[in-house]
This record gives sequence, C-alpha cells and structure tokens, in this order.
Amino acid sequence: MWKLKGYHDSDLKNMIFYSLLVVLEARPYQLSFLREHHDFELKKQGSLSLQSNMADAPNMTGFMSVMSMKGEMKAYGAFTYDSMGKKLRFRSNESSATNASHSMDLLMFFEEGIFYEIESKNQSCVKKKLHCSMHPLDIPDDATFSTKEHSGSAAIEGEGLQLDVWTGSMPDKKGHYSMSVTKGCLPVFTFYFTESTSFLFRTMEIENEIKDPDLLAAPSFCVEQPVEDTPEGTVNGFLNEFV
Ligand SMILES: *[C@@H]1O[C@H](CO)[C@@H](O)[C@H](O)[C@H]1NC(C)=O
Ligand SMILES: *[C@@H]1O[C@H](CO)[C@@H](O)[C@H](O)[C@H]1NC(C)=O
Ligand SMILES: *[C@@H]1O[C@H](CO)[C@@H](O)[C@H](O)[C@H]1NC(C)=O
Ligand SMILES: *[C@@H]1O[C@H](CO)[C@@H](O)[C@H](O)[C@H]1NC(C)=O
Repeated sequence: MWKLKGYHDSDLKNMIFYSLLVVLEARPYQLSFLREHHDFELKKQGSLSLQSNMADAPNMTGFMSVMSMKGEMKAYGAFTYDSMGKKLRFRSNESSATNASHSMDLLMFFEEGIFYEIESKNQSCVKKKLHCSMHPLDIPDDATFSTKEHSGSAAIEGEGLQLDVWTGSMPDKKGHYSMSVTKGCLPVFTFYFTESTSFLFRTMEIENEIKDPDLLAAPSFCVEQPVEDTPEGTVNGFLNEFV
C-alpha cells in the first residue's frame, strides 16, 4: 500500500476523484475546440486544395457591372466589401452608359438586416429593412460546389483562369444562381435566374483590401433616419435593387 506523507487514505481518494472530475468536465470543451479547429483547418485547406471546400471571400474593393439577360446594362460602379462585417457599398458610376433610370448608391448591412439608399447630391437617405441577404460577392453558406473549370487556356501561361463554380437556389426557391469564383474566392461572375428576370453580375479590378473604410459607415445624414415601412409583398435585397 503506497502512502503520501501527511495525507490520509480518504484524502487521497478524494483528490483522485476530483482530478478525474475536472478532466471529465473539461472534455466537452476540449472536444468542441478540437472540432472547431478541425473545421477551420478544413475550410483553410479548401481554398488551396482540390476539394473546393467553401472559403470566405476576403475584403475587397473593385468594380461591378450588372446586366439583364435582355442585354440591358443596369449598372456599373465601384464597390467596397467587408467580408467579416458583411457590409457592402455600391455606387454606380455616372459616367458610364446604363439603362438605369437613376444613379445608385447603396450601403448594405447584411448582419443588421438594414440598408440605405443614399442620395449624396441633396444629402438625402432612405433607410430600409433588408429581407434577403443574397449578393454576388460571397458564396452563400448553403451553396453546392458544382465544378472546377479552366476558362481560356490551361496550357498557355497567363491566358487562363481557374474557376470554382457554386450553385444554389434563391431564398424563395423561385430561381437559382451560378457563381464563379477564383481559387482565393474572388468573385468573377454570377448569374441569377428567376421566373421573371435574369441577371449577370461581373466584378473587375478587385483589390484585396478596403481602400476607404468610410464608405462602409452610414453618412451623418443617414444615421437619424427612421426605418421606412415596407409595402405589403415587397422583398428588399441587394439584387432587388436592379430589377
Ligand atoms: C476586413 O475589414 C474589416 C473592417 O475594416 C476589418 O475589421 C477586418 O479585419 C478585415 N479583414 C481582413 C481579413 O483583413
Ligand atoms: C438600353 O435599352 C435599350 C432598349 O432596351 C437598348 O437598345 C440599349 O442598348 C440599352 N443601352 C445600354 C447601355 O444597355
Ligand atoms: C468610373 O469607372 C472608372 C473605371 O472603370 C473609374 O476609373 C472612374 O473613376 C469612375 N468614375 C466615377 C465618377 O466613379
Ligand atoms: C433628393 O433627390 C432624389 C432624387 O433626385 C429625390 O427622389 C428625393 O426626393 C430628394 N430628396 C429631398 C429631401 O429633396
């Protein structure tokens, strides 16, 4: 029988029992940490390996064009996207020829579920509730990996672009989308097909950073705005702004 100096047998038993308890209690946390870590590693590898697990889009600044399938240029302009904060600013470029009836300046807060239609000229602003969080800069969580394809040439250096294609259905199930992104999850183009209309969003000249963070903050003349009532049957979302 082994003994620890100065401890009774019962003390020793208690000590062993409580250390076991501590180990057991810690296990769920350890497991969930391991699981999260494993998922994270998978996600990280996804953007590098052939598996094409979904990765998150990075922060971005660039240009975006919106075209209807009838060939109308709906909008062209600069965007800024905060991929973690889920914030998007899009301002149409007035110097380019589009069929849009008005210039566009949108600031979307997908996490908060609100957005602003900004009119800088007369410093006016409309604040609205956001019903649909779909937009062409990030792959939706429920998208399905469709295929990996090489646009242009895979054989000639610098003449090709490897794309991952992700597909899914629209939230109301009355349509679907197909999204093509680079290995590093930069969006290249996205098609949205719905019963009534279809659109092509293209992105260009992307830089991997937020160049002007101020663009992602609501202008002072917007902040005090009350949220406008949504008319019955209206769905507000980034895509709906181009219909
Ligand atoms: C993206 O931008 C936001 C806001 O500026 C910043 O908090 C975040 O750290 C950036 N993320 C990366 C990956 O740089
Ligand atoms: C605008 O629409 C008209 C008719 O729908 C079309 O002929 C014209 O090419 C369009 N312009 C642009 C810039 O898309
Ligand atoms: C319009 O777009 C071009 C890039 O295509 C950009 O250089 C220019 O600054 C933009 N103009 C405005 C007013 O946004
Ligand atoms: C500002 O201009 C827009 C578009 O020209 C117009 O719809 C809106 O009513 C104007 N707002 C104010 C407060 O003048």
